[in-house]
Amino acid sequence: MKDASPQALYLADYTPPAWLVDRVELTFRLHPSATRVVSRIAFRPNPETANRRFFLHGEDLTLISAAIDGTPVTPDITPEGLVCDVPDSPFTWEAEVEIAPEGNTALEGLYMSNGMYCTQCEAEGFRKITYYPDRPDVMAPFRVRIESDLPVLLSNGNPVGQGEGWAEWDDPWPKPAYLFALVAGELVATSDTFTTCEGRKVELNIWVRPADQGKADYALDSLIRSMRWDEEFYGRAYDLDVFNIVAVDDFNMGAMENKGLNIFNSRYVLASPETATDRDYENIERIIAHEYFHNWTGNRITCRDWFQLCLKEGLTVFRDQQFAGDARSHAVKRIEDVITLRARQFREDNGPLAHPVRPESYTEINNFYTATVYEKGAELIGMLRRLVGPEGYDKALTLYFDRHDGQAATIEDWLKVFEDATGRDLSQFSRWYSQAGTPRLKVTDDFKDGTYTLNVEQQTPPTPGQPEKAPQVIPLAVGLLSPNGDEVVPTTVLEVTEAAQSFRFDGLGARPIPSLLRGFSAPVILERDTNAEERAFLLAHDTDPFNKWEAGRALARDVLVAMVTQGAAPAPAYLDALAAMVRDEALDPAFRALALGLPGEDQLAEDLHARGITPDPLAIHTARERLKSAVATHLCPLWVPLYDQMTCPGPYSPGAADAGRRALRLAALAHMARLDQGTKARAHFAQANNMTDELGALSILIEIGAGEEELDRFAKRWGKDRLVMDKWFALQTSLAAPDRAVSRTSSLTEHPDFHWKNPNRFRAVIGGFTMNAAGFHDPSGAGYDLVADWLIRLDAVNPQTAARMSTAFETWTRYDADRQARMRAALERIAGRDGLSRDMGEMVGRLLA
Ligand code: PHE
Ligand code: ZN
Repeated sequence: MKDASPQALYLADYTPPAWLVDRVELTFRLHPSATRVVSRIAFRPNPETANRRFFLHGEDLTLISAAIDGTPVTPDITPEGLVCDVPDSPFTWEAEVEIAPEGNTALEGLYMSNGMYCTQCEAEGFRKITYYPDRPDVMAPFRVRIESDLPVLLSNGNPVGQGEGWAEWDDPWPKPAYLFALVAGELVATSDTFTTCEGRKVELNIWVRPADQGKADYALDSLIRSMRWDEEFYGRAYDLDVFNIVAVDDFNMGAMENKGLNIFNSRYVLASPETATDRDYENIERIIAHEYFHNWTGNRITCRDWFQLCLKEGLTVFRDQQFAGDARSHAVKRIEDVITLRARQFREDNGPLAHPVRPESYTEINNFYTATVYEKGAELIGMLRRLVGPEGYDKALTLYFDRHDGQAATIEDWLKVFEDATGRDLSQFSRWYSQAGTPRLKVTDDFKDGTYTLNVEQQTPPTPGQPEKAPQVIPLAVGLLSPNGDEVVPTTVLEVTEAAQSFRFDGLGARPIPSLLRGFSAPVILERDTNAEERAFLLAHDTDPFNKWEAGRALARDVLVAMVTQGAAPAPAYLDALAAMVRDEALDPAFRALALGLPGEDQLAEDLHARGITPDPLAIHTARERLKSAVATHLCPLWVPLYDQMTCPGPYSPGAADAGRRALRLAALAHMARLDQGTKARAHFAQANNMTDELGALSILIEIGAGEEELDRFAKRWGKDRLVMDKWFALQTSLAAPDRAVSRTSSLTEHPDFHWKNPNRFRAVIGGFTMNAAGFHDPSGAGYDLVADWLIRLDAVNPQTAARMSTAFETWTRYDADRQARMRAALERIAGRDGLSRDMGEMVGRLLA
């Protein structure tokens, strides 16, 4: 395993920093190919350690000069940094380095995007800007001077001065270097002010390129709502006089929470009804909130080391999920979150890349910004909250902010706060942070003399490096329904702590129907032998909206599995249950739209594999298409009335109510298209006055093998809008018919607008193709080769984004021998390349281990 390689780092090896920093002063003289960075850093010995070795990280820097307390020094330079003889007492380090932002295609450190300068320092990018102890447990206040002719010059903190060609910023809050940021460019702001509950008047600016002016209103509105929400629900107020957000087109991730200067991938800022879908609006709201919430959970309290990444990410995702649930619908939000959790995190947790929420070793930390750290990390917070109750949670959070403000903390600190605030012993709970893998929960039941018994067994399969797992504490929320549909036992949280355990409910008149794992109360796989009648009953009667949806999803899955494995016809019980649900006007349209969705092809492959059946991606695709058509036919009379009913009068609003109606209307349209060859969808496309309808209709047409003309029209209309064109590319590669996906994708890589060094465009084309399960897994292996070729090419310019996309191969062991051999060969071809990045080297090493 690659983990045993010399460069791997281990959590167990943590040592405190030898030197602490009291203050940082930086001056930037910006130049595309020769930027000078002058640093002046006050160091002092760390009283907590006797180690005095003076090491500063630094990569791809040209050192011009260095001095200690004004006396020039000549440090020893290595590829990773420098060491230098220093006094045994506090001193001032001064250095000047030169860097070339223009040639920085990795988009880490200081780089350029469309003529503007920007930075990305998390996790370890600051070392590409200047020599520094680039680790999160070294925190200091920063003062920054920027010299450039560009009109807008920004850095962290508050502005303290500006003049012709320069600006100065001061950030009084001690921060680790990964939160440093600088932006310089020709930018325009959408602005407002916000007065905090502490009476601080804060200037808010969202900076975009002039051509994008007018598209930041929703981001700004989301920011204001986030600030208010964090005050109301967590008692957290903002702590600077200005909050700046900048949208950049070239960005490896979604966004970054730099103190007072968030930097965003422009796709998560820019929106107008004509160019952004409801999903885009929802993502903007969520990510704006996420980065803002980091100001307390991430910045004021940061991580001691990168093994603790989930301390800030799991908690901040949990907070953004709470916020979005409050802003929209909790039920719908929970269902959407679980769909993503299963699609991304369960997939990761059940393959060669499985790792604990707090990993114990890594080679390249960029490879650990994963669904496990983020989404499973958030599930752990949700479970904690369930176990200690909302009041216990609030008490613990208050203590966390009081006790650790200004510190770089650990998961042990986090759990201790909960133990101290609530008196609960969390030693067993802590296994959730150290054990990888998705626990299986097997549930059987008995009923005798009015007593109902649930027998629960838990078991977590082996994962890389972890053959054996100990039982974890699993909050299992259950409710019991009587055969007439009444709820006889409302939601109760059972605490499963043993490998096998029973829970009794007395005094019941008849055998109840159990509603298990309500609200998806734990990130586990529920295994229960049941039948279609019970699922249909829960779909009709469950009071828990998540489980109502889940029952329908399980029915659909069983139907699809039977279609794939036995060539069965779609079960009428499912179709009838679906019809009843679609007709139920008491249900939220957004919920009904979700209930009409089928499990994805990759999800079905995973389900089949879990049942010991080797998945055939093409058979899955075909069955799923057949089921969609069967649903269309069986529910035929419902679609047109539903389509006519779900209009949204009035101007476009991205809010949950209208978005839900549009989603249900498009779901109806998708089924209609299977009956009228797309006639109505074509009209819908032509009349659309917002991107949700336009793109929705276009994808419906592509799915039924039509839409070529509309694709051309779309490209003519939107050719100049890069974010809209990302959608145009992604739609084609992700939805192309299985036998055409490879050729379609290859020809799109020849398109003049395939700017593959732009991560959004690369993700749209190549990433979109990897989502096309039947196309990617083409039996010829051509899909694997296409992706491998492009990963190799991208790795040479942008290792982070390339390595991330290698997860397309993480399911390779599920498939038949022939596909396995082809995927393995593609991975070995990547692994064998000279000059492979550390990022990609670690990923393919783990994939092949
Ligand atoms: N910390 C960022 C977030 O979750 C993610 C990120 C990581 C962005 C690394 C850039 C680089 O909000
Ligand atoms: Zn985050």
